[in-house]
Amino acid sequence: MKVSIIVPTYNERDNLEELFGRIDKAMEGYDYEVIVVDDDSPDRTWELAQRLSERYPVKVIRRTDEKGLSSAVIRGFKEASGDVFVVMDADLQHPPEKIPELVKALEEGADIAIASRYVPGGKVENWYWYRKLISKAAIMIGRLALPKIRGVKDPMSGFFALKKEVVEGIELNPIGFKILMEILIKGRYGKVVEVPFTFGLRKAGESKLSGKTMIKYLKHVYRLMRWEGELDRLIKFTLVGLSGVLVNEGFLWAFVNFLGWGKILANIPATELSILNNFTWNDLWTFKDLKRKPLWRRLLDYHIAALTGAFVQWVLYAGLVYLGLNYLGANLFGIVVSFFVRFLFNRHVTWG
Ligand code: GDD
Ligand code: MN
Repeated sequence: MKVSIIVPTYNERDNLEELFGRIDKAMEGYDYEVIVVDDDSPDRTWELAQRLSERYPVKVIRRTDEKGLSSAVIRGFKEASGDVFVVMDADLQHPPEKIPELVKALEEGADIAIASRYVPGGKVENWYWYRKLISKAAIMIGRLALPKIRGVKDPMSGFFALKKEVVEGIELNPIGFKILMEILIKGRYGKVVEVPFTFGLRKAGESKLSGKTMIKYLKHVYRLMRWEGELDRLIKFTLVGLSGVLVNEGFLWAFVNFLGWGKILANIPATELSILNNFTWNDLWTFKDLKRKPLWRRLLDYHIAALTGAFVQWVLYAGLVYLGLNYLGANLFGIVVSFFVRFLFNRHVTWG
């Protein structure tokens, strides 16, 4: 078995020598190659890599036509000749000594092995609390928006290994930094394992992660939601919700005008009928492929979602009004948040 280690680089000159040395030592007994994909770095990383390839099994790709971390990794996959691919950063934040552990996980049956910061034993060294918060929030957004990766603790790690079949013949089209997320959504795989590691400090040079990278991440999540059909669900859920408004108003009107019921009490059956209307359409349409629980259970969960949404809406409304916000604005905000709460609850629980 041969291992191809793919290392995207941009201005990483001062890290190369130590990186290659430590990889070589860690990979003792393995047949391996390193594929450096450099985007024509101004500091001439490619040149040094080329020189070091006399000492280590390193293949250097100098790209001049394209830029970007994720596309560099994909290029690396194309150039690799191994049966197993490892992806890692050049700046030694990813300890090469972990590579054998990742490869072993594949040998033991995993298709993807992720070096993870967020499983027990894993950690991040010296990050400010806000960088940690941003990282965790970004992961939470990804896991909520893309139920397929819900079980993965660190889908944004840049350090992972996979069997080449996982990406072979698959069209990958990521933007930004999160190539692993793209693979987790589009790749062909069964078992994923996470191996804890410590995301260390950068040895030399600077991080290329910027505010723009985060915007790109959100775009990427949106694109993957579309690809997964999750966006279609969101749209269907919205349309069903609107139909529920008509049902609610219609029955309220009918109860008051034809049956002579009191206006306060008639609201309750009208609301329940709209909930049943929405449930039916969501069950037959929005989530029709996801009926894993018995009907009574889905119906119960759906009501819990409705109640939770209403509660969230009320709490936000009361809180914002208390803080002095305009009550109509506060209500609108509550409605919007409640909508997402209900969608996510139903997507992950009722039809999860
Ligand atoms: N070829 C190429 N082109 N390589 C790039 C580019 C690019 O445009 N941008 C960055 N790289 C290389 C860097 O040289 C480095 O080897 C690696 O990609 C990671 O870049 P950093 O700038 O060090 O990223 P980071 O440390 O902020 O982010 C890392 O950790 C994140 C987790 O917090 C990456 O591994 C991310 O993928 C990961 O999500
Ligand atoms: Mn880094």
